[in-house]
Amino acid sequence: MNKRINLYTKNLYIRRQKKSDLTSAYLSWLKNPLVTRYMAHGTQSVDKRSLVQYYLNFKNNPNDILFAVTIKNSGRHIGNVRLGPIEWFHKRSEFGIMIGDQTIWGKGYAYEAIQAVLYYAFCTLRLNRINIYVVQENKAAVAVYKKAGFIVEGCMRDNYCLDGKYGNVLIMGMLAKEFKENDRA
Ligand SMILES: CC(C)(COP(=O)(O)OP(=O)(O)OC[C@H]1O[C@@H](n2cnc3c(N)ncnc32)[C@H](O)[C@@H]1OP(=O)(O)O)[C@@H](O)C(=O)NCCC(=O)NCCS
Repeated sequence: MNKRINLYTKNLYIRRQKKSDLTSAYLSWLKNPLVTRYMAHGTQSVDKRSLVQYYLNFKNNPNDILFAVTIKNSGRHIGNVRLGPIEWFHKRSEFGIMIGDQTIWGKGYAYEAIQAVLYYAFCTLRLNRINIYVVQENKAAVAVYKKAGFIVEGCMRDNYCLDGKYGNVLIMGMLAKEFKENDRA
């Protein structure tokens, strides 16, 4: 697999994350409970050391890709997309996105980034399926994934605990043929 990945959209440049992306701004996203509320590591505090360790897990890893989403004109890093773990035998992968800078939510950047990474996953890597596990209460994420063409395929009841309450996790999926049909439309 090509280690250099450069994806361009109307407003974004998406590439593998670099060590220089591990800034205090990035750390501040992970300290914002509005950003992390529904993410796997939740609102546990993250320090620079754990951020570096997280980054190193992905560096040059062909089976788990952490993309930096940046604004094309300014180079400003606004979030991440994870494509992985990839299971090559089954041609499938998991997927997740975070637009860490909350001040720019609602501008269509997540949708744009999702489309670009899906194109890469289905058309360059030739994967057949992408899986997403998303907290049902995370309205923004469920909406953006549905807008991108993901289908809700199932629901894991009471699969996480937040503020002392259990909540459901949706299983969302997309197949390569569905992406290609949508892309042609
Ligand atoms: C979920 C998230 C990625 C959305 O990013 P965003 O850049 O604001 O999303 P977009 O602007 O691209 O929105 C695309 C569509 O999603 C929907 N949407 C976005 N935010 C929404 C909200 N708060 N409520 C309902 N729908 C919403 C809209 O349908 C929108 O399309 P429209 O503008 O044509 O109506 C962002 O809120 C985020 O990073 N949250 C924290 C991390 C997270 O929870 N990630 C998901 C983990 S699985």
